[in-house]
Amino acid sequence: MSFNKSFLKSYENNELHNLDKVSIKLTNDCNLRCEKCDVWRSKDDIIYWKYEDIIKVINELCFLKVKRIIFTGGEVTMHPHIAQLILFCNNLKIKTTIITNGYNISEQLIENILLSGLRQMIVSLDSHIDQIHNKMVGKKAFNRTVNTIVRALDIIQSNDLKTKLLINCVVFKNNFSHLDDYVLFLAKIGVKEIRFLELHDVDFSMDKLRLNRSDEYFFDTIVRPKIDKIAKVNNITIWYNLSFDFNPINHLTGLNLNLNNLYKHIPCLVPWHNIKINLNGEVQPCCLIKTKIGNVNKSSIIDIINNSSYKQFRKYSKPPINRRQCKNCTYKIDYNLEKYIELID
Ligand SMILES: C[S@@+](CC[C@H](N)C(=O)[O-])C[C@H]1O[C@@H](n2cnc3c(N)ncnc32)[C@H](O)[C@@H]1O
Ligand code: SF4
Repeated sequence: MSFNKSFLKSYENNELHNLDKVSIKLTNDCNLRCEKCDVWRSKDDIIYWKYEDIIKVINELCFLKVKRIIFTGGEVTMHPHIAQLILFCNNLKIKTTIITNGYNISEQLIENILLSGLRQMIVSLDSHIDQIHNKMVGKKAFNRTVNTIVRALDIIQSNDLKTKLLINCVVFKNNFSHLDDYVLFLAKIGVKEIRFLELHDVDFSMDKLRLNRSDEYFFDTIVRPKIDKIAKVNNITIWYNLSFDFNPINHLTGLNLNLNNLYKHIPCLVPWHNIKINLNGEVQPCCLIKTKIGNVNKSSIIDIINNSSYKQFRKYSKPPINRRQCKNCTYKIDYNLEKYIELID
């Protein structure tokens, strides 16, 4: 098995193939205080990236034929120009995604964002039990976040929009045992896509929130089959971006791979297709790897993506990958594995 010809050359030369997705951090401000997150704990000054400066970056990305821009934060809906930025990208035929906690968005803003041509809205909800979600996010946010989901689904349906709504759920100690009921709850309000994410360490250890081996076993053998059944009946797509897996995933790939050691066998294709741009213009490969590749305020994006640092990084993204951070990779299945299957003959 080998990569198709058009990709093979860039793979071998460690050069960018094409720019699929670029993630842009618009602000480090946030209105929640999630236990799992380091954004609000930072002592850095609060910054909102200036509209004109983001537009410059978007124009450059458009020239490079980027397919999708992911606006993230902090909390992107606090950025005063979020709807205009989506509209600007839409006019350039660049697809957009936002990731939001859904906590403090007025009905008007949800409508503006969706009607500006947003293609994917990702809302983070950690439990269908209000006390658990509220405890995890540090505020009484549950009702507002659920209202945002319901309102967004309603606007999408009544305006016949192409926007996809995806729910992100980080799996941890307090929620793993009842995630089947969580999926049922979301099915009842009309959600069609859910992604379970592995908890990753940020700048401090997450050990007290993390599942132990017996929790993982319980999740995989008891909870997950129930989730899959509910998902099938309700026509919901579930993504399990989890590194533990007691069930081989042969059914997914036919490649006899196991998620525990996936990157021993397949490359991480992210650095051949993606970059993440931080608030200060620093470019890094993805959310988990903080290696600084360059800065958009000092060099052009085209120079950055083909500079020696990124080439070197690609070299170490071929199997077997030994980077500690990649264990909790959020691109494991719904990007890297999918793309790998697409690219091999
Ligand atoms: C950093 S947040 C920023 C966007 C927005 N404020 C939100 O919460 O959706 C992006 C995503 O990362 C997830 N996240 C935050 N901390 C995490 C951690 N320690 N491990 C895994 N995912 C995490 C959030 O649940 C959210 O879905
Ligand atoms: S809402 Fe998002 S950015 Fe804010 S603290 Fe929670 S995970 Fe972090």
